[in-house]
Amino acid sequence: MSAVKTVKDVDVSGKRVLVRVDFNVPLEDGKVSDDSRIAGALPTIKHLLDKGARVILMSHLGRPKGKRDPKFSLRPVASDLADKLGQPVLFLEDCIGDEVEDAVKQMKDGNVVLLENLRFHEAEEKNGEEMARALARLAEVYVNDAFGTAHRAHASTDGVTQFVDTCVAGFLMEKELKFLGDHTEKPDRPFVVILGGAKVSDKIKVIDALLEKADTILIGGAMAYTFKLAQGGKVGDSLSEPDRVDVARAALKKAEERGVTFMLPVDNMIVDSVDFDARTVGQSRFTGEGEDIPDGWEGVDIGPKTIARFSREIAGAKTVLWNGPMGIFEIEACNKGSFAIAEAVAGNTGCVSIIGGGDSVKAVRKSGVSDRVSFISTGGGASLEFLEGKTLPGVAALDTH
Ligand code: 3PG
Repeated sequence: MSAVKTVKDVDVSGKRVLVRVDFNVPLEDGKVSDDSRIAGALPTIKHLLDKGARVILMSHLGRPKGKRDPKFSLRPVASDLADKLGQPVLFLEDCIGDEVEDAVKQMKDGNVVLLENLRFHEAEEKNGEEMARALARLAEVYVNDAFGTAHRAHASTDGVTQFVDTCVAGFLMEKELKFLGDHTEKPDRPFVVILGGAKVSDKIKVIDALLEKADTILIGGAMAYTFKLAQGGKVGDSLSEPDRVDVARAALKKAEERGVTFMLPVDNMIVDSVDFDARTVGQSRFTGEGEDIPDGWEGVDIGPKTIARFSREIAGAKTVLWNGPMGIFEIEACNKGSFAIAEAVAGNTGCVSIIGGGDSVKAVRKSGVSDRVSFISTGGGASLEFLEGKTLPGVAALDTH
């Protein structure tokens, strides 16, 4: 991948800099309940302010489907951001239009403006040219720091870049590309990949791409049951995709051909019922090594023998990439596997450890080890598409060296 230019490569002093951030954060009772994406954008915002830029931030929040809906207003984010920056953040009620243009014209060096949710306009997701031009009118320099949205070709991530001369990446974007890209393209070896989550179908392209790069792949989560079926095992009532058994078989074959160590769980925690809403399970036990899962029972986590084996592999790694939990980690009774893997990853202080977005990030945060891993991606779908080897439109649109 040719290196994208970043905010460090351009002179922003006294300029209006339009920054696409991903402030698609969860809100509870009108307050930001997880601020990691806001925190992630701070280095770029602070750098621009230090350089005397006028910073105009834009983002989407949720999926309001082109309609103004107060539930999806970015206003609560403005106050959270103002606290973090220790300076006022002027919130504008829209993201395009005369009033926005007037307000932006009155900005002084070092001012920060946050525009209202881009997705209140249908044209954002349609990558509409008028909207792209209207956004471009606000800016002299465009910065994309929204890795989490870089897989979308929208007016604010793609279209706008056709109408602004200078388009560069922010520090968060640069970091995401470095860890999910460079460190997995040319990893220090052994490179151990841990993949979990519910479905083989969600991750098959990622598995396929990583089979080209990894030395070892450890599989957990419900998708391991589809692999167990592919090996002729029985999975009882476990979540699985019998129609994807061929795909799983092909991955196993590719691993063998390429000499990649492909490890599936050797034991599982199984239960006779799960009540997800109540966060409880019925009777539980661990299967013996290699034992089939009986009818009437379902696998909900990896077992202790698997934890020990996976942890050994992780301890010997020089690069670790983890995407997807090992079990139903949201239920306390089923979180041991995911937490133990989080502990093993954090415990290997001599490796580059990358948490590849989505639910594994939640598992890492819940287990309290987030400050002991090298990098936690802020992307969900974007991380997956990037790891699949796809070119992300929001990245492709930026200037390169
Ligand atoms: C995300 O949360 O994954 C990004 O903000 C993208 O959101 P979207 O899936 O609604 O486009």
